[in-house]
Amino acid sequence: MTKQMQYVWVSFVILFIFMKLAKADNYIVHMDFSVMPKAFSNQQSWYLATLSSVSAKSIAKTSTAIPLSKLIYTYNHVIQGFSASLTPEELEALKNAPGYVSSDKDRSVKVDTTHSFKFLGLNSGTGAWPVSNFGKDVIIGVIDTGVWPESESFNDNGMTDVPSRWKGACESGTQFNSSLCNKKLIGARSFNKGLIAQNPNITISMNSPRDTEGHGTHTSSTAAGTYVEDASFFGYATGTARGTAPGARVAMYKALWEEGAYTTDIIAAIDQAITDGVDVLSMSLGLDGLELYEDPIAIATFTAIDKNIFVSTSAGNEGPDVETLHNGTPWVLTVAAGTMDRDFGATLTLGGKGTVNGLALYPGNFSSSEFPIVFMDACGNTTELRKIKQKIVVCQDPGKEDSLNDQFNNVQVAGNTAGVFITNNSNVDIFEQSPFPAIFLEQKDGDTVVDFIKTNTDPKASVEFKKTILGIKPSPRVTSYTSRGPSYSCPSVLKPDIMAPGDSVLAAWPTNIGAARVNEDLVFSNFNLLSGTSMACPHVSGIAALLKAVYPDWSPAAIRSALMTTSDQIDNTGSPIKDIGDNLRPANPLAMGAGHINPNKALDPGLVYDATVQDYVNLLCGLNFTAQQLKTITKSSSNNCSNPSLDLNYPSFIAFFNDRGAKPNSTTVLEFHRTVTNVGDASSTYKANVTPVNGLKVTVEPDILVFKAKYEKKSFKLSVEGPRQLNEAVSFGYLTWEDNGRKHVVRSPIVATSYKIEK
Ligand SMILES: *[C@@H]1O[C@H](CO)[C@@H](O)[C@H](O)[C@H]1NC(C)=O
Ligand SMILES: *[C@@H]1O[C@H](CO)[C@@H](O)[C@H](O)[C@H]1NC(C)=O
Ligand SMILES: *[C@@H]1O[C@H](CO)[C@@H](O)[C@H](O)[C@H]1NC(C)=O
Ligand SMILES: *[C@@H]1O[C@H](CO)[C@@H](O)[C@H](O)[C@H]1NC(C)=O
Ligand SMILES: *[C@@H]1O[C@H](CO)[C@@H](O)[C@H](O)[C@H]1NC(C)=O
Ligand SMILES: *[C@@H]1O[C@H](CO)[C@@H](O)[C@H](O)[C@H]1NC(C)=O
Ligand SMILES: *[C@@H]1O[C@H](CO)[C@@H](O)[C@H](O)[C@H]1NC(C)=O
Ligand SMILES: *[C@@H]1O[C@H](CO)[C@@H](O)[C@H](O)[C@H]1NC(C)=O
Repeated sequence: MTKQMQYVWVSFVILFIFMKLAKADNYIVHMDFSVMPKAFSNQQSWYLATLSSVSAKSIAKTSTAIPLSKLIYTYNHVIQGFSASLTPEELEALKNAPGYVSSDKDRSVKVDTTHSFKFLGLNSGTGAWPVSNFGKDVIIGVIDTGVWPESESFNDNGMTDVPSRWKGACESGTQFNSSLCNKKLIGARSFNKGLIAQNPNITISMNSPRDTEGHGTHTSSTAAGTYVEDASFFGYATGTARGTAPGARVAMYKALWEEGAYTTDIIAAIDQAITDGVDVLSMSLGLDGLELYEDPIAIATFTAIDKNIFVSTSAGNEGPDVETLHNGTPWVLTVAAGTMDRDFGATLTLGGKGTVNGLALYPGNFSSSEFPIVFMDACGNTTELRKIKQKIVVCQDPGKEDSLNDQFNNVQVAGNTAGVFITNNSNVDIFEQSPFPAIFLEQKDGDTVVDFIKTNTDPKASVEFKKTILGIKPSPRVTSYTSRGPSYSCPSVLKPDIMAPGDSVLAAWPTNIGAARVNEDLVFSNFNLLSGTSMACPHVSGIAALLKAVYPDWSPAAIRSALMTTSDQIDNTGSPIKDIGDNLRPANPLAMGAGHINPNKALDPGLVYDATVQDYVNLLCGLNFTAQQLKTITKSSSNNCSNPSLDLNYPSFIAFFNDRGAKPNSTTVLEFHRTVTNVGDASSTYKANVTPVNGLKVTVEPDILVFKAKYEKKSFKLSVEGPRQLNEAVSFGYLTWEDNGRKHVVRSPIVATSYKIEK
């Protein structure tokens, strides 16, 4: 998380500096291609002519010289239009040009930053891996910070030739030679014209697809990395690393730069990925607080759906507050981050009188000798701590805001042999990867240690780091940082969609980028542990690739439905999955979506909730978008709005009971209409089962669906009756369609909420 924060911070500072200096700005300009005069042979020449005419007009109007506007990109698929660097005068003139639809200012974008496959139940012998041939020949395009092609995770041993349909390229550049791609990493391109147009004097430190930050190497290997034995993070998480679709191919589209990240470049990357022929797009990035017609990622991915490309995105790392989610776009999958059943730790041996285990991720080497150990209460006085430098110090966290942070810093500054922190801080994972030897104990283990110190005259202890503990219960849990719904841009569709492992994920890392610190020094590793929804998203991209390999004709909506309706709501203790960000209460679907992804079950969903492009158009019409806003998203000037509806055929339900002026006890009924397609046995009967939703009456009609053929569709209505103004912020339950013998269990979350999205 720290690396991503740094990233965001650095790009913010750079953006700020240039915003102060630059006069012209980048704009994404949406044009109506259908009004292009016949005289122009192609879009680009029309755009250039339009731009030169507006430059001339704006120069004529003002006395000072205005720099000539510059075309940055002409987009082919994802946007009908172009991006250009424009002065305010030029932009105004452009608005009157024939064919102009709308424009958005370029924006700076947020990056959301071994064992996970086992935790997901992926197994070489049975299930999704062998059935999909490990995602063979599916191409995953990753929009990110670039790639470290030398990583063993991109080794192409045993892979067959690249499919002939692939039109991508491996672009040469600084420290990147086109021969670095292979049958695993089949493409690598970079996009920075927008970045350069925004910051004309910028020096790009690595002008090629090579990753200088590590994020893209990590996400792309999480999705489709090959097998690498003996992977570890300085001895933690040791094992054979691999992506969730080890047989799939990767193409990297570098659009996020150390120097900044702009939407004009990201759109160009998506545009190129579609042209090149990717099957899945993985985007661990997003933009906050935008309407769908302003969100370039939403606009660009609408075209991807039209071309049957599955799009997986990250929900963001702004949790645990509600309504913090980005990419709440109805046609993409939005992924939340959960924990795995793995912890990293250290063992403290108390003078030969027993041991206690704590959490730790210190990457350095630590002596196996015994050291004196002392209890220093709250460790609040650095002068005191310095006096006992050569000792292991034990600190009791009083549990106040920032108290663990203060203790941690005090011990680090004092330079004690090691710090042992007794804490119940739920965000202890932020501290675990410490540059000095630090161990985090639960209260009961801490009490054992303090008792040992108090009852011995010369207490000594030794510490052994680099322990990996599997089978941690309960897991998964919802992380505190994962962003929560409802979706700002489209509240009527419940978001996020699904949860996947995002916490302490081990994946490939560039050899020359520090993976951690030991004291002041950077230490290097071919693998790194990172946390964030950035890490959760590519897990799902890989699993979507497995499904694509098995069902190449399924729509993105059908694949999304299969993933959602087969996900798990129960953790490995058999209880409802808990939310670390909500005091370990059962997680609600605004935090984890439908549930935790279960790839093997997703292979055989029984029923799917499908959606066509027209269904999304009906939704956009239901949002009361203007014709111009619709055109911006759909790229079509003839959108059929005869059937506007916010009731998208989605595998989840969100009902708003937020009429703040309502009379007490007055009730209302909200209705949802859905159609399911039978993708299981031809002849099957499904029965509806609704778990109670607190304070509401939920009914399903009909509650039995009888199918006689494969791909047959059946419709039903779900009604939620409740108070106009719900007392609870969130109430939730599930609708489950079960066939005979519960061979298929098709589950959808139902959320009722009193939240109101304020715009
Ligand atoms: C790429 O590397 C190969 C092998 O090292 C070399 O033969 C070739 O000339 C290089 N190509 C470019 C474009 O630098
Ligand atoms: C770019 O560099 C030129 C010449 O060094 C300078 O005049 C100009 O102000 C710089 N522009 C920005 C935006 O820094
Ligand atoms: C720890 O020890 C190993 C093996 O001796 C060595 O390769 C590594 O560089 C050491 N790590 C540090 C951070 O000094
Ligand atoms: C820290 O402890 C020293 C004695 O070792 C004492 O003089 C000093 O006042 C203490 N400082 C604080 C901030 O409590
Ligand atoms: C954490 O510990 C502090 C004191 O050590 C206690 O006051 C607090 O209630 C505890 N919090 C939780 C969530 O257990
Ligand atoms: C769209 O407009 C209709 C008619 O004015 C209104 O009933 C509906 O609430 C509006 N929908 C949204 C999402 O604002
Ligand atoms: C619009 O869609 C409706 C069905 O929802 C259809 O009846 C109608 O013919 C369509 N109109 C046009 C112009 O395609
Ligand atoms: C509203 O419902 C509550 C609980 O059901 C009841 O106690 C109260 O009298 C009702 N109020 C009105 C105005 O009907």
